[in-house]
Amino acid sequence: MTAETQAALSLRGVRKSFGPVIAVAGIDLDIAAGKICGLIGPNGSGKSTLFDCCTGLVRPTAGQVLAGTTDITGWEMARIAREERLLRSFQKAVVFRALTAEENLILAGQMTAFRSLAATFSLGPLAHRRVQALRARAGELLERVGLAHMRHSKAGEMSFGQQKLLQFASMLMPEPRTILLDEPFAGINPVLIERIVENIRAVNREQGVTFVIVEHNIDVLSDLSHRLVVLSRGSILADGNPEDVIRDPRVVEAYLAG
Ligand SMILES: Nc1ncnc2c1ncn2[C@@H]1O[C@H](COP(=O)(O)OP(=O)(O)OP(=O)(O)O)[C@@H](O)[C@H]1O
Ligand SMILES: [Mg+2]
Repeated sequence: MTAETQAALSLRGVRKSFGPVIAVAGIDLDIAAGKICGLIGPNGSGKSTLFDCCTGLVRPTAGQVLAGTTDITGWEMARIAREERLLRSFQKAVVFRALTAEENLILAGQMTAFRSLAATFSLGPLAHRRVQALRARAGELLERVGLAHMRHSKAGEMSFGQQKLLQFASMLMPEPRTILLDEPFAGINPVLIERIVENIRAVNREQGVTFVIVEHNIDVLSDLSHRLVVLSRGSILADGNPEDVIRDPRVVEAYLAG
């Protein structure tokens, strides 16, 4: 990659096996900074495991993961989020159900700002001022994703789609550089899908945040992505501009066979 197209995330021979199961079979991939990259593949092709390897949830069996030029292989998830601003969402909406929408966002901002949970919950004057700033940012983000009216609602009382929007907003709290989204549109209605799509586009365009998005909704994903990468059985099967990739006979066959 040239200096103009710096990689936000690079995988070098990344491999992950669970006993005899090879989930990720040695992947080399550079994700260009400031772009939206879609990642598709049949069930079980290794997409989520690849995200897990990039974000410290599992340690690759072999290979390296770089955020920019920093080798983050083996780092813990919290350190990757805090120091590299590399964040990810999960297939299920992960929110703190007993907390309000606003509290969820404040907590997301705190967790990546401090080194320990004790510091997160300390109540000194500095921490107090910091919470005020986080509250203001939480308000802006709730407005941005169209959840301002639910600011004081408990996350557990929100619909699944609203929880996914809240999870998306949580990832914007720590001013991310790179966001990995695992099935952000699964199980939610078309209106909320459109709202998430618009927000991804806006955050990418205005703040230059890099996105890698795993999604089974290929129509929405190809329209949104600058590039589409296809995984099959833990390896890259196709990679290129979305229009070409979805017409590639090998990709069509992998889906029919998968
Ligand atoms: N913790 C684990 N222990 C054992 N096997 C696992 C584990 N996690 C994933 N696998 C296996 O690794 C392979 C890849 O799974 P992964 O969840 O990464 O696929 P995926 O592409 O995200 O699939 P989906 O589209 O269904 O979410 C599968 O065969 C899966 O069963
Ligand atoms: Mg998955």
